[in-house]
Amino acid sequence: MAPDEPMAPAALRCLDGSTISTAEEWLARRRPELLELFAEYVYGHTPDLSLEAVARTHREDIVLGGRAVRREVDVVITGPAGERTVQLLLYLPTGAKCAVPVFVGLNFSGNHTVDPDPRIRPARAEQYPPGGQPTVDPATAGGRGSLAHRWPIDMIIDSGFGAATAFCGDVEPDHPEGAAHGVRGLLADFSQHRSGSDWGTLGVWAWALSRLLEVLSDQPGVDPDRILAVGHSRLGKAALWAAAQDERFALVVSNESGCGGASPSRRPFGESVHDITSRFPHWFCPRFAEFAGREDDLPVDQHLLLAAIAPRLVYVASAREDLWSDPEGERLSALAAAPVFDLFGADRPAGEPAIGYHLREGEHDILPEDWQHYLRFAADRLG
Ligand code: GCU
Repeated sequence: MAPDEPMAPAALRCLDGSTISTAEEWLARRRPELLELFAEYVYGHTPDLSLEAVARTHREDIVLGGRAVRREVDVVITGPAGERTVQLLLYLPTGAKCAVPVFVGLNFSGNHTVDPDPRIRPARAEQYPPGGQPTVDPATAGGRGSLAHRWPIDMIIDSGFGAATAFCGDVEPDHPEGAAHGVRGLLADFSQHRSGSDWGTLGVWAWALSRLLEVLSDQPGVDPDRILAVGHSRLGKAALWAAAQDERFALVVSNESGCGGASPSRRPFGESVHDITSRFPHWFCPRFAEFAGREDDLPVDQHLLLAAIAPRLVYVASAREDLWSDPEGERLSALAAAPVFDLFGADRPAGEPAIGYHLREGEHDILPEDWQHYLRFAADRLG
């Protein structure tokens, strides 16, 4: 794809060649078609799971000098082959006069890395990839607060928002054999063997985000109509796929989600389909790997994932030195999705861009500076 070519496939043309010209046509025809194509070719189909998720409050503390309440909620997921607990860490402002919007996202290395408070339970060793060096030492919980910069709770709370997070390894450990030790292992017909359009870890993480949304919707103090998905990198890919499928998310933030996230697969820059499916074969459906080196044959590309979220809010963020994620590709995707948001444009003040975007200096990470943009965008757009 040359840099100034329009991004293919065309957002407003259906597979049968017909053109979409209204918001109603988009929602009735093109969006369902795209969701089916992303399931078939990229992430795999999300099955209807016969798993029950029950929330139980484990403990509640007043934190941040009285400005927030922190709740640890156990989300117990039960299936025919057993049960699994996803620990949800939720912060809400104490001074709010009404229910608040809440950001929810998975974290990389355990809830105890988000907040140094020793009362937070550490993640267990078996939730990490085997042999992979975890970011923290789970046995001693030595990494307490080591990734706190990714979750600037005080800033989020002081802006009138809530924040909720859970460890992705609670849902399913991030490695090719992780499925057996996660949510999929609870299913009666679980098999480690996958083929074609069977879902992968990103699909399972996205599924879990929807379960967390349901749990949050029932929590006192949370506004169920303003639950906002957020994710960095691989977890940003999962957040986008969750928000594309689940219209209950009012907004999604993709922070440097890169290949398989906001970056176009067709652009020969940064991580390629070959790179990602060789190193992380478990993330996608097996079929995605068949498009390594022939990305032009994919019937979708990632700008269409952003478009599938319209007219709900989307924010894409990149970092200049994060070349692996292709910052320019992420920006072009956001631009290419804009015509779809424009179909719904009457709902937006003139001149306001459809999708939020920023490029910050620096490397691959999610920083308080990024959160400042997200909080401002969400406050402006959610009303
Ligand atoms: C690797 C991977 C990326 C991913 C990133 C992350 O770099 O290649 O696709 O986004 O890890 O999750 O941090």
